[in-house]
Amino acid sequence: MRQFLLAPSIIAADFARLGEDTAKVLTAGADMVHFDVMDNHYVPNLTIGPLVLKSLRNYGISAPIDVHLMVKPVDSLIPEFAKAGSNFITFHVEASEHVDRTLQLIKANGCKAGIALNPATPLSCLEYLMDKIDIILLMSVNPGFSGQSFISASLNKLQKARNLIDKCGYNILLEVDGGIKVYNIGQVAAAGADILVSGSAIFDHINYKQVIAKMRCELKKVQILYNES
Ligand code: DX5
Ligand code: ZN
Repeated sequence: MRQFLLAPSIIAADFARLGEDTAKVLTAGADMVHFDVMDNHYVPNLTIGPLVLKSLRNYGISAPIDVHLMVKPVDSLIPEFAKAGSNFITFHVEASEHVDRTLQLIKANGCKAGIALNPATPLSCLEYLMDKIDIILLMSVNPGFSGQSFISASLNKLQKARNLIDKCGYNILLEVDGGIKVYNIGQVAAAGADILVSGSAIFDHINYKQVIAKMRCELKKVQILYNES
């Protein structure tokens, strides 16, 4: 049975009540928290750092937190985020001069390690990394902002990444991030995603429980089709 994990991106949450809003979305049925870190250098936007993650832990958020580093350089931030309470740390393959070393640094700090690929970055960059990664994050928008439209070419890339993972025999989660809504989440799951990130589609909705239930219903349809095949 295919399992799908729903990871709301808190960049789209109410930052004036971030702890409350994060707790609310988890109670509404989300599985983990997608924590977008932007440095206004690697991407043209500036968001949150380790202090905010630590505050969420102190507030009582115990769900897995999936840190998506859209920063350059990467390495110096890894121990900070690990100490603050990250479970997964994913960085952009395009943002590290020494990808293998950065992956080792994440693991040495006790976190699961992920590689994020921008829409234009080919899957070939993963060739010598498959035995070292726990997550592959495919960007289905160009990084930097929530509320963008899903890049439809991502589905084809996603299918190829799914085949790559299934063939390599390593236990790697496939995460898709950007422009995921109720109307396309089924397509993304059917193409092979395990973790589905969604920001504005959830946090802009008046009722988190309702929109997450709709997403779960779409995912259930994919599970049934998958099990019948
Ligand atoms: C974009 C971020 C995404 C984005 C998701 O750079 O990595 O996580 O905030 O938000 P939506 O679902 O609104 O595209
Ligand atoms: Zn993200």
